[in-house]
Amino acid sequence: MTHSHETDFGTPARTSATLVTLEIDGRSVTVPEGTSLMRAAMEAGITVPKLCATDSLEPFGSCRLCLVEIEGRRGTPASCTTPASAGMKVSTQTPRLAKLRRGVMELYISDHPLDCLTCAANGDCELQDMAGAVGLRNVRYGFDGESHTAKAKDESNPYFTFDPAKCIVCSRCVRACQETQGTFALTIDGRGFASAVSPGAAEAFMDSECVSCGACVQACPTATLTEKSVIELGQPEHSVLTTCAYCGVGCSFKAEMKGTTVVRMTPHKDGGANEGHSCVKGRFAWGYATHKDRVMTPMIRERITDPWRAVSWEEAVAYSAARLKAVQAKYGRGSIGGITSSRCTNEEIYVVQKMIRAAFGNNNVDTCARVCHSPTGYGLSQTFGTSAGTQDFKSVAQADVVLVIGANPTDGHPVFASRLKKRLRAGAKLIVVDPRRIDLVRGPHIEAAHHLQLQPGTNVAVLNALAHVIVTEGLVDRPFVEERCDVAAFDRWAAFVAEPRNAPEALAERTGVPADAIRAAARLYATGGNAAIYYGLGVTEHSQGSTTVMAMANLAMATGNIGRDGVGVNPLRGQNNVQGSCDMGSFPHEFSGYRHVSDDSVRGMFEELWGAALDNEPGLRIPNMFNAAIDGSFKGMFVQGEDIAQSDPNTKHVSAALESLEILIVQDLFLNETAAFAHVFFPGTSFLEKDGTFTNAERRINRVRPAMPSRVGKDEWWVACALATAMGYPMGYDHPSRIMDEIARVTPTFRGVSFEKLDRLGSVQWPCTDEAHTGTPIMHANGFVRGKGRFMVTEYIPTDERTTLMYPLILTTGRILSQYNVGAQTRRTANVAWHPEDLLEINPHDAEQRGLKDGDLVSLASRTGATTLRAQLSDRMPPGVVYTTFHHPVTGANVVTTDNSDWATNCPEYKVTAVQITRSNLPSDWQVERDRQEGERKRVTAAAFTATVTAAE
Ligand code: SF4
Ligand code: SF4
Ligand code: SF4
Ligand code: FES
Repeated sequence: MTHSHETDFGTPARTSATLVTLEIDGRSVTVPEGTSLMRAAMEAGITVPKLCATDSLEPFGSCRLCLVEIEGRRGTPASCTTPASAGMKVSTQTPRLAKLRRGVMELYISDHPLDCLTCAANGDCELQDMAGAVGLRNVRYGFDGESHTAKAKDESNPYFTFDPAKCIVCSRCVRACQETQGTFALTIDGRGFASAVSPGAAEAFMDSECVSCGACVQACPTATLTEKSVIELGQPEHSVLTTCAYCGVGCSFKAEMKGTTVVRMTPHKDGGANEGHSCVKGRFAWGYATHKDRVMTPMIRERITDPWRAVSWEEAVAYSAARLKAVQAKYGRGSIGGITSSRCTNEEIYVVQKMIRAAFGNNNVDTCARVCHSPTGYGLSQTFGTSAGTQDFKSVAQADVVLVIGANPTDGHPVFASRLKKRLRAGAKLIVVDPRRIDLVRGPHIEAAHHLQLQPGTNVAVLNALAHVIVTEGLVDRPFVEERCDVAAFDRWAAFVAEPRNAPEALAERTGVPADAIRAAARLYATGGNAAIYYGLGVTEHSQGSTTVMAMANLAMATGNIGRDGVGVNPLRGQNNVQGSCDMGSFPHEFSGYRHVSDDSVRGMFEELWGAALDNEPGLRIPNMFNAAIDGSFKGMFVQGEDIAQSDPNTKHVSAALESLEILIVQDLFLNETAAFAHVFFPGTSFLEKDGTFTNAERRINRVRPAMPSRVGKDEWWVACALATAMGYPMGYDHPSRIMDEIARVTPTFRGVSFEKLDRLGSVQWPCTDEAHTGTPIMHANGFVRGKGRFMVTEYIPTDERTTLMYPLILTTGRILSQYNVGAQTRRTANVAWHPEDLLEINPHDAEQRGLKDGDLVSLASRTGATTLRAQLSDRMPPGVVYTTFHHPVTGANVVTTDNSDWATNCPEYKVTAVQITRSNLPSDWQVERDRQEGERKRVTAAAFTATVTAAE
């Protein structure tokens, strides 16, 4: 277990190359120019008392506890706000300072309840520590400070309490909310002794703008803002450094533990992706890991209408192997396959794809990345030569212009959004390309320079129009193109985008974006300094997803915005390990490291190492597996931690495919929607039990360390090994680090990666090509991975999905901050307080035409299906476009999405569905049938559990 004691240096580090040397308490200290005296002292091991300063925030200078004396200067300046300068002689401890500090502490304590022994922060309170540090022995002003101690506690937030009686008005919370999170939810009301912190206009936390990121709770030096889990469980005893299991930002956390119970999750200051920040999901929504719904024993059943039967692991493995082999004997080697999970570790994913290739004997492996970022892989490898984002997150601090397209970072990638907002507040310009007015368009102290509110499905047209302006107005970075790119390909592309049909004026009607807005945005992107592109599923989940990715890469190359800090093309990846699942060889045509299965030398290397003959033909993609299942040629499937019945498009089709399988094996934490069709269920492990690695959207390989032993008694990777072995291909590892060693051996971009190195360095961004290599924060710095950057002609081809009189609106989908994916985890936490149901956002004009009011139940119908949900009138949506999330299975938003998909990768077109909305007071047929099946399943499962428990007793 890792114990991590982080020193608080009081003020942030400075990076100036100029160093200054001074003397503090007789010690010579050298620091970068601009460093505060407080930090200089702390770096030299000299502790200065402080209350309002903390090294994650700019100094404020309000508490007057950190006073120092400087030779030759009058007075006692605050060390947190005084910069070190060369030759200074500073004293931090003198009798005069001690007296002044005691005086300050006396004032604080006189206005503070003295319930230290029963306070939740006892032992973790800076006020208490400082009283000790300054030697406070008596308080002359009495303990009846009247201003704060009588105020009522605010317990409205599900995860933390606000007890104003304990507030010392140090403003750390207010600054954390502004500087770190960028939400500006807190203010200091009143003045002097009567001043107090309050959320919004003296509202409760839950009614305020607060997004529950917890930065203020972490910054608070007293018990004023305290996690409810700490109040309930007491102070943690030890901590384990690990990685959030939600989104692709990949924040590092200290799991602070009491025995095997998590007391709180604290974002890690040295975490490369998050540098001490987090969002509500990572910090607070971990309760699902110990939720009572978790299935703890393997289960099997002959038919999906039978009740589940709890069995031993060995029996479940033997049963699965026998049925898979029987299917292969009857229908052929290619009749089975599997899906890896982007929520699992690299090691767990690697063994599943290896099981499929080596033990199943085919390449029928795919991953949920198919339904999100497969176009990223294709588009970036065609243009740049590698399937990943080009920058580290930190790089955004150097951007002057940021283009956000098809992404909603404040909801989807909140910690990255906080970094971005910080940069925008410091003056960078923002261009948003999105049909919906996302929060970034206008927020506290930020405003997009341009919001190109395009019609869903017209990304390529908008990007071509931007390129048209750049090429025809002479804004191309010629030296970059000539030196770094394939010039013939550039010429072809430039001639194509320069055609009049790609002019903003020609495309305005189709895209819905005025030509002058496109022209202004293009000029800004091309000439505004470092320009960076960040994008999400609003780019990839389209019939032209791959084309859009290539169009963005073209823009970056044409303007020389690639290969250094502050620029680049960056996917904001959805799931925590979607990058890793792609890297690990989860696609049917590629081994780990994106090498084609038909490449004889690569395949030969794997065959030799694995001791198995491997197929040289690409296997089936997820949609092909479903089609083959319906056709009767695909009969068995292993699904690792993915709820495909809920998350894949066109639910009816998926259900029909799953129903026709003869053996479906599901490994998950919960009996999810897919498990309804399963014959074998293996319990999975939560991130708190896993030992391995996740790779985030920056290609950063982070360690996931077990904070508690596996609650189900087995590691998740054990199942794939045991199943492969039972099928006749012996596979086993004595530790997950051995799996990583094998990954490193077979994957050039991972060659220098090992658990030992990750433990030593904290994290590593691939490519990391040998033992001495420490990783690659910025890609394509001295040349593209493929050699010359390749411009691709990106013809705009409208999607087949069209609006008609029957279906006159376009539905697009997205996610919300508090929920995650299909909600299997977040719905099992107090996060439901924020998003108890999926809502349909509709422009007030469209609503009025249909006689709809806010909160009405509506039927959302497409050519594929219909579902019922509640309407929310919102001018975020342009007329003609509606929006919903898909976090709740009861909504089944994917019942309405279509079979359209990206031409290159089959990534489904979730973002464009023609629909009609009508008022409805009834659930849809689909929901009625689902409820009936659900009731039946629950009855059968409950009966099985009861039988199992009774038998065990
Ligand atoms: S939890 Fe986050 S958003 Fe809410 S008040 Fe605190 S810092 Fe601000
Ligand atoms: S709530 Fe905590 S951080 Fe905020 S002003 Fe009060 S004591 Fe300081
Ligand atoms: S931003 Fe993503 S990785 Fe970070 S805490 Fe939130 S959900 Fe977890
Ligand atoms: S820590 Fe310097 S004034 Fe508060």
